[in-house]
Amino acid sequence: MAVDHTRFLTDLHTLRSFGASGVGKGVIRPAYSKADIAARQWLAARMAEAGLTPHVDPVGNLFGLADGPSLLMGSHSDSQPEGGWLDGALGVIAALEIARSSDRPISVVSFQDEEGRFGVTTGSAVWSGGLSLEQADVLIDGSGVTFGSARAEMAKKSQGFVDPVRFSGFIEMHIEQGPALDAAGEQIGVVTDIVGIRDMVITFQGQQNHAGTTPMHLRRDAFQALSLFNTRLNDRFRNVVMPQTVWTIGRVDVHPNASSIVPGRVRFSMQWRDGDPERLVRMEDIIRATAQQIAEEQGVTLTYGPMLGLEPVSMDPVLRGALESGAQAIAPGRWRNMPSGALHDATNVSRLMPVAMLFVPSIDGISHDFAEDTAEEDLVAGLRVLDRAVHSLEE
Ligand code: GLV
Ligand code: MN
Ligand code: MN
Repeated sequence: MAVDHTRFLTDLHTLRSFGASGVGKGVIRPAYSKADIAARQWLAARMAEAGLTPHVDPVGNLFGLADGPSLLMGSHSDSQPEGGWLDGALGVIAALEIARSSDRPISVVSFQDEEGRFGVTTGSAVWSGGLSLEQADVLIDGSGVTFGSARAEMAKKSQGFVDPVRFSGFIEMHIEQGPALDAAGEQIGVVTDIVGIRDMVITFQGQQNHAGTTPMHLRRDAFQALSLFNTRLNDRFRNVVMPQTVWTIGRVDVHPNASSIVPGRVRFSMQWRDGDPERLVRMEDIIRATAQQIAEEQGVTLTYGPMLGLEPVSMDPVLRGALESGAQAIAPGRWRNMPSGALHDATNVSRLMPVAMLFVPSIDGISHDFAEDTAEEDLVAGLRVLDRAVHSLEE
């Protein structure tokens, strides 16, 4: 049976309606939110309609299982706190459409908490054995909720973890989330490698005090410590980083966050990514040394939360070759091989089986924003490449 482009796009738009932000095509569907759970219930029904057996595991990963051995395809359906409609959703709905139309047995998955409300790709990290359930359960989100309590409701309906031996490999389609394909007018990216990441929370604790009466030289201002840390870190990284290296302080909690109070505490996320594991270690050394120096200079104390991370991984040559042949057939002269600077569940799944990934362009390179979008013809081109690749693997 041929893939049905209309059914694929219709399902993609229906999934968007769960947690639709009302701004453009944006969605607000963080892991375990009402919208996320409702979307998973809808997806489970679509899986069942496609002849797959829905299966929820103890962390809320949703599988649609084909009978017997199968190829696994999918991505995630949770979103960032302000997310786009395609990040993750595209890979899940494309997988569903391939499962419906392929002669070959295809299982579908939507992993839970890929977007890291609690950690880094938490659902697939636990399933693949990269993170134990005990370690995951004590992770907290930005407002102090534990992973253990967030997953409790879904865990009640769980049928246990799926044994990965039933899957021969994993293919994940995703939007690029960067500018390369769009800027070049290309339609398809076949992923070569996914970068590694480190992520941890750092806290500077100073002395909360009156903003009118506390002389500048007596202050132990936690925000000033962060501000100096950021400036010095950028400076020190200069000798170590490459053009593709990235680092981000994306979440900052200043306490008590009032204009007439010298901030007593600042807690912030420190994340860095690169394709070279040694560089990730060198960057960590610089982060820790700089934070220690700032703490001493500013008279604040320094504490670290758990360090989370994933190593860089390469894609499987056979699965990747099938995607390359599909790209050449569907988009000749308009595709490329490229690394992924974003993280994906495929990194975790590579512990268990061969994996490969396919990208379609992101308009203006925007993602993790309500404005994220991709031209429909590119979404369909990606689906057709997947279809070709799965056919060629059958032969
Ligand atoms: C996943 O969304 C990432 O942060 O790369
Ligand atoms: Mn994603
Ligand atoms: Mn994302």
